[in-house]
Parts: sequence; structure tokens; C-alpha cells
Amino acid sequence: MSFTIAIDGPAAAGKGTISRAVADRFGFAHLDTGLLYRVVGLRMLQGVEPVEAAEYLLPSDLEAEGLRTAEVAQAASKVAALPGVRKALVDFQRAFALRDGGAVLDGRDIGTVICPDAAVKLFVTASPEVRARRRLDELTERGVDTDFVTVLADVQARDERDMTRADAPLKPADDAVTLDTSGLSIDEAVDEAVRLIEEMR
Ligand code: C5P
Repeated sequence: MSFTIAIDGPAAAGKGTISRAVADRFGFAHLDTGLLYRVVGLRMLQGVEPVEAAEYLLPSDLEAEGLRTAEVAQAASKVAALPGVRKALVDFQRAFALRDGGAVLDGRDIGTVICPDAAVKLFVTASPEVRARRRLDELTERGVDTDFVTVLADVQARDERDMTRADAPLKPADDAVTLDTSGLSIDEAVDEAVRLIEEMR
């Protein structure tokens, strides 16, 4: 039987970490749907037409090098505003969500568009400053030379684009439970997500 957990929210709110931990905890498969848009963004930077890139996307592309850069993140949020790109990626995400044994999908529109019937919907958020600080720490750890102001501007530009696009904008589903991780450590955020999911199951 399928059981879908939808986890949405803005950039660097903790969705990825929470989703991986929740999938581990319940023994479910996990799909980071942002990677799909990042692959298409990367292809666009390489000169491929974005809708075509989305139509020919292969699961193995999610392992491609260079998907985690700031440049690809911005390109991803640009191609994500194209209805043709979003449409081409729907079936893959729905098939993943409906697999036997349960699935956790994280992204921007999982609870609103991809899986409106998900058993559990979480909207994970945090203040822009907290999110920028976390992203900066992550980038610094990876040896990327950047600073707080640049990262904050990047995060805000992406959120603005994701929230204001006409097709599948970033917003909580009406029946989503919001988890604000601003004042929480990673462990606390994961514990709280697991508690909320246990409650909703
Ligand atoms: O989650 P991540 O930061 O990897 O996502 C990159 C970009 O992909 C987001 O800024 C957003 O524009 C887009 N995205 C989306 N819908 C999703 C997941 C990601 O539009 N379900």
C-alpha cells in the first residue's frame, strides 16, 4: 500500500534533512524534487531548451555533478516557473509518491499540486536570516567562498520567484501543518516533525 508524506517549504528551511530523517525513521523512499528542477536548470545553463530537458530527464540524472551550486539553484527556480517544465515532471513525481511501501517527497508544491491527497502534509519554514545562515554554513563547509549578505540575497530572490509564479507557487496546502524551525536545532526539528507525523498518521 502507498503512504505519502509531502514536505514543502522555502529554501534552506530544513526540509531536506527532515525528509531524509523521516524517510529513514519510517522506512520510506525519499525524493528531493528540487533536484529535478536543478537538473533542468543545469541543462539550461548548458544550452538545452528547458522543456525538452524536462521531458528527457532520467532518474540517473539526479546523481549528476554540480547540482548543488548557487548558480544552478537560481537557474532551477527560473525554469521552475515554466508551465511546460512543471508539467513534464508531474508523472515521475506521482509515480514515486504512489510506490508500495511509502514515500516522502520534499519540494514546493507537493502538498498543493503533486500529491493533494497525501496522508501527511508538512510546511517547513524558518526566517530568511536563519535560512541564509544555515545555507552559508553549509557552503562554507563545502569550501565555497561566499558571505552572509550574498547568500541572504540569493535565498530571498529564489523565494520571491517561487512564491509569485503563476503555476504552482510556493505556499502551504490548506490542510498542511506548519513547522517553524527558526529556533530549533536539527535534531529538535526532526523530533518535532516525527511527532507531528505520528499524530497525523
Ligand atoms: O529545493 P531546492 O532548493 O533544491 O529547489 C530548487 C528550485 O527548484 C526551487 O527554488 C524551486 O524554484 C524549484 N522547485 C519547485 N518545485 C519543487 C521543488 C523545487 O519549483 N517541488
